[in-house]
Amino acid sequence: MTLRILLLAGLLAASCCSGADILMITMGGTKSHKIPFLELAKGLIPRGHNITFLNGFPADFTLHGLQEVTPSGLVEYIRNYTNWDLLGARMRGDMPLSLWDVFRFSWQICDATLEDKETMDLLGRKFDLMILDGAFPECALGLVYRLGVPFMYINTVGFYTGTMALAGNPVPYSTTPAFYRPVTDDMRFFERLSNAFYTLVGDVVYTPSMLYLQHMVRRHLGSDVPNIWNLSRNVSFILQNGQASVTYPRPLLPNVAEIACIHCKPAAPLPKDLEDFIAGAGESGFIYVSMGSSVKAANMPDHLRQLLVQAFARLPYRVLWKYEASPALLTDLPANVKIGRWLPQQDILGHRKLRAFVTHGGLLSMFETVYHGVPVVTMPVFCDHDANAAKAVADGYALKLDLETITSERLVRAIHKVIHDPTYRREAKRRQVLLKDQRSTPLETAIYWTEYVIRHNGAYHLQSPARNLNFLQYYCLDQVLFLIGVVYLLRALTRLYLNPRIVQLGKEKLH
Ligand SMILES: *[C@@H]1O[C@H](CO)[C@@H](O)[C@H](O)[C@H]1NC(C)=O
Ligand SMILES: *[C@@H]1O[C@H](CO)[C@@H](O)[C@H](O)[C@H]1NC(C)=O
Ligand SMILES: *[C@@H]1O[C@H](CO)[C@@H](O)[C@H](O)[C@H]1NC(C)=O
Ligand SMILES: *[C@@H]1O[C@H](CO)[C@@H](O)[C@H](O)[C@H]1NC(C)=O
Repeated sequence: MTLRILLLAGLLAASCCSGADILMITMGGTKSHKIPFLELAKGLIPRGHNITFLNGFPADFTLHGLQEVTPSGLVEYIRNYTNWDLLGARMRGDMPLSLWDVFRFSWQICDATLEDKETMDLLGRKFDLMILDGAFPECALGLVYRLGVPFMYINTVGFYTGTMALAGNPVPYSTTPAFYRPVTDDMRFFERLSNAFYTLVGDVVYTPSMLYLQHMVRRHLGSDVPNIWNLSRNVSFILQNGQASVTYPRPLLPNVAEIACIHCKPAAPLPKDLEDFIAGAGESGFIYVSMGSSVKAANMPDHLRQLLVQAFARLPYRVLWKYEASPALLTDLPANVKIGRWLPQQDILGHRKLRAFVTHGGLLSMFETVYHGVPVVTMPVFCDHDANAAKAVADGYALKLDLETITSERLVRAIHKVIHDPTYRREAKRRQVLLKDQRSTPLETAIYWTEYVIRHNGAYHLQSPARNLNFLQYYCLDQVLFLIGVVYLLRALTRLYLNPRIVQLGKEKLH
């Protein structure tokens, strides 16, 4: 018995830094932001670490070693904020979220979080490491400062590069599409021009909300909290929710590692009711339809719902549809359609009889579809969906439909096309092979670097001095300006010196 305990202790000590206390924080407005954190937590807990996880979505399960903190103010704020009809807005051609809504989110959510006693109680505890969401991290950076510990990011939005840029990672506008734009990294002249414009103007327009947020952080946490951009630059390590095969090949500093699909897993057998439903279609198989957790399918306008129902009724396949309403309310559902409030998405995507996936194109859904090798029809709604769709279309495993012009006829044709044109499935399988061909699994990578930061109490030796340079300095524009100045000066001097009248005067003086 004692031998066993000794062995176990030895193992733990050898494995790392025996038992760290880690505080994870996401203030992402949608539940999918939790997923990469929970996967990392599940990998860290068996290795002796304790995880405290602050977020706005009450826990669905309990896990020994994981304590979820869900301040009620934050939970309620997100619930109020996200009771939206994004699909309807997108169909009308409106911005699904107004700029004002995007801006107010960052500081209002901060206020709701810091006002809460549950959050402030965390400041009385001791942690060894904090892991923040790269989306809306600014508020939590104030807590990082107060707790005085090293921190990392999980950049849940894999096409977002803002926190990498602040850390000094090269993300040139010429090959880094803004994460909300429908373009790939291979842009023509005018696409590059508009991309640079969108990115720059986006940063400028966002600055006042960040300043206001900073004011909010200082009000709650003390006026000595430094500038939040500077706090962000002190990040030890960034786990980027991307991977060259599914996002873009990028230059990465040594303090960035990619962990796309950290949550992906092989399919488990489906519950009996779903399996029976699928079996009912025989060999023709089924398609899976989901708008994810953020879009709130049940809030969609009725004409879109009817359009989908009409399209599904014309398909020779069964249709599994994630829809958050009671079947009793949907009296017009065709016999080949089954809805579910929650469906085991990965087990479905890995099912032998699945023919295609109709999706809003959320990042995690796109990763999962590649992991399971399934072609998709995507209907981007907001945030990064357009960028995700652009990449999937470029990779050849997706067809994109515009919600503004969608008809039941177009949807049926798109579904038939991705199923019957073999290139879509072939490209999905090709990407699947590429995604899985890695030296270590994304979870192993994430655990390694997390424990690395704990072992060395931060990874400041990996930081690039580029993070402290401004735009002009980073691109050597200050030097170009300096050199141009020198050239002008020299030219002025030589002109003066070679001026015939002055030369003449000089000669006269000599005589
Ligand atoms: C983890 O939490 C448990 C229960 O709160 C505590 O007993 C244990 O000491 C903690 N371990 C570490 C490494 O902090
Ligand atoms: C949420 O909405 C309700 C009803 O409109 C309101 O009373 C409440 O104050 C809101 N809560 C937050 C945190 O915004
Ligand atoms: C970075 O964080 C560490 C740990 O909290 C701190 O000691 C250090 O002063 C910080 N550096 C800067 C430049 O803020
Ligand atoms: C940010 O940090 C840099 C380098 O440490 C410092 O020179 C600068 O004054 C800081 N900026 C602000 C606004 O605090």
